[in-house]
Order: sequence, then C-alpha cells, then structure tokens
Amino acid sequence: MKNKLSNIKKAIKYLNKNQCIGIPTETVYGLAANAYSSIATAKIFKLKKRPQKNPLIVHYYDLKLLKKDCEVNNHFLKLYRKYSPGPISYILKLKQDSLISKNVTNKKSTLAVRFPNHPITRNLLKKLDYPLAAPSANISTKISPVSKKDVQDEFGKKISLILDGGSSKIGVESTIINLINKPQILRLGGIPKKEINRYLKLNIRFNNRSKIKSPGQGKTHYSPYIKLRLNIKNANKNEAFILIKKRKKISKNYFYLSKKNNLKEAAKNLYKTLRKIKKKNFKSIAVEGIPNKGFGEVINDRLKKASYFK
Ligand code: TXA
Ligand code: MG
Repeated sequence: MKNKLSNIKKAIKYLNKNQCIGIPTETVYGLAANAYSSIATAKIFKLKKRPQKNPLIVHYYDLKLLKKDCEVNNHFLKLYRKYSPGPISYILKLKQDSLISKNVTNKKSTLAVRFPNHPITRNLLKKLDYPLAAPSANISTKISPVSKKDVQDEFGKKISLILDGGSSKIGVESTIINLINKPQILRLGGIPKKEINRYLKLNIRFNNRSKIKSPGQGKTHYSPYIKLRLNIKNANKNEAFILIKKRKKISKNYFYLSKKNNLKEAAKNLYKTLRKIKKKNFKSIAVEGIPNKGFGEVINDRLKKASYFK
C-alpha cells in the first residue's frame, strides 16, 4: 500500500469539489462521490452508464452519521455489531429529513448502507462530514474491479484519482440484506447466507427474483462479454477453462480460481481471472462445476449473470 497522507488529502479535495474518485474496499473497488450532493452523484451515473433507476449503496464510517440518514432497527444493530465494518450492506428506512441526494435512492424511501473494512477508505470516511455513495467502479453490467489497475482499465483518464489499496481481499461484492420488514437477502456476497442465519437464528432466504427490490440484480451483470459455458467437464481446445480442482495435465488455457479447491479463495480470484481471460482474447470460456455452497453459491450466482449477454 503506497498511499501517503497526501493522497487522502487529494481525495478529500476532489470529493469536496463534487468529483468522483476510485476507492479500495475489501469487496471490490468503488466509484465514490459525496452522497449528499446531486451534482457529484449524477457524475457516478454518467461515468458508469448506469440506469438512473438503479440506486446506489452509501458508505459510512460508523453509526453517528448513519443515524442522521436512516432509521435503525434491532436486526440491523445486531448484524452491525458482528459484521461491520465488513462485506455486508443493509437496506434501511430513509429518514424524511435525510440529506441523501435523490439521485442515490431513485426517490425510494429506503437506503442501502455499508461500512467498508479497508484502512484507507475508513481513514477517508472518518475525515469527511458526508457519506460516500459508491457503486462498484466498473461500466454498468461489466466485470467488477478488484485493483487500482482494473479501475483504470474501466475509466482511463475520466477520473482524476484512484486510491491504491492493493487487491481486494474478498474479491466479490457485499451481501445485501433487506431489513425493512422480514429480513431478506437480495444479493449473495462476502458474508455467507448460512452464517447470517445461524447468527440471527432465522431462516432468511435469498430472493433471486429480487430484481424489483434490488434493481441492479438484472440478468446481465459482471460480464466479460465472452461466451461462457457452465458446469463443463472438459473444455474445448481454444477455450479458456476456469478450474478449482487441480488437474494432472497442464495446459495454457487453464485458469485456476484455486488450486486447493478452496471456495473463498476461488471467489477472491473470480473477477481477476475473468479480466485476465478477456485480455488474452479468448472467444469462449468454460467453467468447471462449482459446488453450490458458501462462497461457491456466490461464484455460481455471478457466473450465471456473467453468462447472459446480447
Ligand atoms: O461490495 C459492494 O457492495 C460494492 C462496494 C464498492 O461497496 N458496491 C456495490 O455497489 O456492489 P453496486 O452499485 O455495484 O451494487 C449495489 C446493488 C445494486 O444491485 C442496487 O440495485 C442495490 O444494491 N441497491 C441499492 N440501493 C438499494 C435499495 N434501496 N434497495 C434495494 N437494492 C438496492
Ligand atoms: Mg456493481
């Protein structure tokens, strides 16, 4: 991590001028702007080519500022104590007098909030008197970024600063949990569903028809825009082959997400591997069957969405 204080100062300067910057988080890199500013948040949508109807997640340092914007409830406080800062986002009720820009919420009465666990971004959030709206720092529907270089590849010179926080430790987005009425998981992610259920002593389901409730969970997403085939035993010769179990044979078209069949490690390497394959100009990708449990469920969710595109 090469960041000096001067970079944090630069970040604050740009953000105060309503500009967007790239920020590291433990899940994926975000494209951040002042969540209270309509000018700043409008720029996020423009840069990402993101439909206006898709609301943004807002990032806070702690509960102090959050309580000005949202109503907190018991499930939230319980989860917050255990998992935040960390890879989980909560949908809460927005307070009527909240300063959050209407761009962020698409006029909804709810807000997605998160407390990212990365020292650079926490340091930045602590110094600001506004929270940061930050979707993943990729062009809409494309692969999420897990390094400074990935963000540069997405936006080039269109953004003036990307804070370098090394490669994202989790490598997939946060779990999104709706806590407005009965808790419901809207997106699988960095905290496994099973763990949340065990902790809350509930049986919360993943609602994968949650497109309306979580507008960003549309069909095409996380996509390399290359033909992608799932549950494949043996790939074709000229096809990139994504694997999690080590094979005896060595081949140039093999890309391991994990050599030890470790699903958490595999999730961490997913987006990085998809980008690598795209850069190598493969025209087709095959993926070995991945067990649908824990982080395997997250990987399968992302790959399924990545495989739909026109
Ligand atoms: O790990 C993450 O969550 C990353 C990092 C940068 O924090 N952020 C991220 O943001 O993944 P984004 O915008 O790429 O995905 C946010 C998802 C979208 O699917 C959006 O529709 C949903 O959250 N969302 C945002 N506000 C919502 C709300 N009020 N109700 C339901 N879903 C919401
Ligand atoms: Mg995203």
